[in-house]
Amino acid sequence: MNSPLPEPALAIAAAADAPAVLEARGLSYAHGAAGPVFSHLSLSIRRREIVALLGGSGCGKSTLLRVLAGLARPAKGEVRFLDTVQAAPHPRSALVFQQASLLPWLNLADNVGFGLDFAHQPQTGKAARDERIKAAIAAVGLAGREGAYPAQLSGGMAQRTALARALARQPELLFADEPFSALDAITRAEMQSLLVDVVHRWHTAALLVTHDIDEAILVADRIVLMGGRPGRLLHEWTVDIPRNREDHPEAVGALRLAILGALRHAS
Ligand SMILES: Nc1ncnc2c1ncn2[C@@H]1O[C@H](COP(=O)(O)OP(=O)(O)O)[C@@H](O)[C@H]1O
Ligand SMILES: [Mg+2]
Repeated sequence: MNSPLPEPALAIAAAADAPAVLEARGLSYAHGAAGPVFSHLSLSIRRREIVALLGGSGCGKSTLLRVLAGLARPAKGEVRFLDTVQAAPHPRSALVFQQASLLPWLNLADNVGFGLDFAHQPQTGKAARDERIKAAIAAVGLAGREGAYPAQLSGGMAQRTALARALARQPELLFADEPFSALDAITRAEMQSLLVDVVHRWHTAALLVTHDIDEAILVADRIVLMGGRPGRLLHEWTVDIPRNREDHPEAVGALRLAILGALRHAS
């Protein structure tokens, strides 16, 4: 499905059969006195859906992610998380950024557990907490490395640890802002597969911010293209190419061309 969206208040509807985990309506945001980074922007993310937010550098993707994640307040509009208006980051959401941001004095397991003890997190007993940490570390393929310190980890392992730290919160929605951009191409491909695998197995939804068209096509169930000034959602594609998508180069190539075409028309 390649459908231009109506303007100016762009509503991207979730499919009728799955409830939304996140529903944003009519969002506007400006940094200080500068003009709006985006306006009249609406987006829904369904449970278990992987959405890629694709756009060029500086188009406002990270700003939008911060507003959707409750880290910044919109000037207009609202974000509903699990059907409740969100005023602060929701305990059932989690974030992964380009930098793993591990605490160097904590070992891998303690870095994964970091964040579970904050007051706004649902409190768990020690056994349940340890079990969550163990399961999250196993999910990213780092079982046996619990005692390693960040200085001993490769970039890919550090990002796996950051992903495990997010999973330990048992999120309904994972926000990921260019999480693999700093990795080499081979590690990036591994991490893209891991992300899809983990999100499917943990029944989590994900919003992946990326400027990489191929990454968006390989990972996402749906791609939304952001652009313009102020920023808005220009276009969306449902990606119905079977996984593993590397095995369907023609379909991937066709979608890639469609996205490039939309980008050309947008600029
Ligand atoms: N803290 C900030 N203060 C002022 N302007 C900002 C700030 N963060 C980002 N911007 C500006 O907002 C716009 C969108 O930035 P950003 O959301 O980081 O884009 P992207 O993630 O798509 O590269 C850019 O013009 C950027 O310079
Ligand atoms: Mg950014």
